[in-house]
Amino acid sequence: MKLQTRLLHLPKPDLPFNSLSGPIHRGTTITFDTVEEFSKRSKVYYDGYAYGLYAHPASKALCAAIAELEAGTRAVLTPSGMSALTLTNLSVLKTGDEMLLPCSAYGPARSEANAFLEPLGIRTVTYDPRQSIAPHLTSKTKLVWVESPGSFGMEIQDVPEIVAAAHAAGAEVASDGTWASPLGFRALDHGVDYAIQALSKHINGHSDVLMGSVAVKSENRYRRLRDCMRSLGLGVSPDDCFLTLRGLATLGARLKQQEETALVLAKWLAARPEVSAVLHPALPDDPGHAIWKRDFTSSGSLFSILLEPGPAENLAAFLEDMRVFRIGASWGGLHSLLAPADMQAMRGNSWTDTRPLVRLNAGLEDVADLLADLEEGLHRYKSGSRAAAE
Ligand SMILES: Cc1ncc(COP(=O)(O)O)c(C=O)c1O
Repeated sequence: MKLQTRLLHLPKPDLPFNSLSGPIHRGTTITFDTVEEFSKRSKVYYDGYAYGLYAHPASKALCAAIAELEAGTRAVLTPSGMSALTLTNLSVLKTGDEMLLPCSAYGPARSEANAFLEPLGIRTVTYDPRQSIAPHLTSKTKLVWVESPGSFGMEIQDVPEIVAAAHAAGAEVASDGTWASPLGFRALDHGVDYAIQALSKHINGHSDVLMGSVAVKSENRYRRLRDCMRSLGLGVSPDDCFLTLRGLATLGARLKQQEETALVLAKWLAARPEVSAVLHPALPDDPGHAIWKRDFTSSGSLFSILLEPGPAENLAAFLEDMRVFRIGASWGGLHSLLAPADMQAMRGNSWTDTRPLVRLNAGLEDVADLLADLEEGLHRYKSGSRAAAE
């Protein structure tokens, strides 16, 4: 059976309630029939039900689906994408270790390195996402992060090459693969050890659940993640798992449509005089295009544009007066979004381009309405005029 079919026919718990939708069992306390089963409850921590925080039928169903989607054997769920990144760091790194992080990584992951990991004695070395990591590897490097493409700058990374260099130096590799979802890039198939998703984006896909996942192929890594989760008290709610499973069923259809719309917008924007450059790896002249074509099977919904220089008021007139697009950061949902980025503030010295950058998320609206909205917006950007009141 094809993946899309299996996503609609996930295994159900063995209950005499034969519905098409999945379970929501709320519960904290798990009860046991015998003293012996009760006293051994910690033994079922990794697989069974010991406490509502650790697992429930909906979280088990979602873990199994994510593991399969990522081509892994096991997956864990966390209360956000950000906590999936932190959990991975804490389950791998200890005092004295070094981590490599691309300067293009999701902003809060870079802040975490300085504000949280450094005081724990874990050093982060930042690297250029398009350069070899070899000069940065030392005997202390224990974890190398990839995020392809990078947040806002859309830099594609050569993941197999990075994996080979990291493994040769004895380091593990973690990938934040949220941009393409596992339908567009299966990190574990490219040799990565930890495949992270912010499920809050494409996989739930409706901008109403915060959740993250880490998928692995090794039982040891799974157990280390679970041990760390137990210490941190991390768990996810049955309702959120139910909603995420519901989102998962339509992931293929949504991604296909949103990818198509994003490409129409990107090509149209590339021909506009107000737009200086379009950062989208599926466009043939993008610097990451050849690697994207080799490794990816989707180009997702998210890309960026660099505008010709213009006053800040004109940018505000463009973005604030849109009819369909909304200004917002958390992408991958059904709605089209625009997010202006202060790249110097976000990336520091590693971003020297001063052209205004705006990131777009293509939603499920009719593409003709999105193009008309952008056309009017770019006119406002050029002229500084505001939209006429309705
Ligand atoms: C690439 C990427 N990774 C991780 C995250 C964090 O996910 P969450 O918002 O669920 O914490 C985000 C959020 O914007 C993201 O864009």
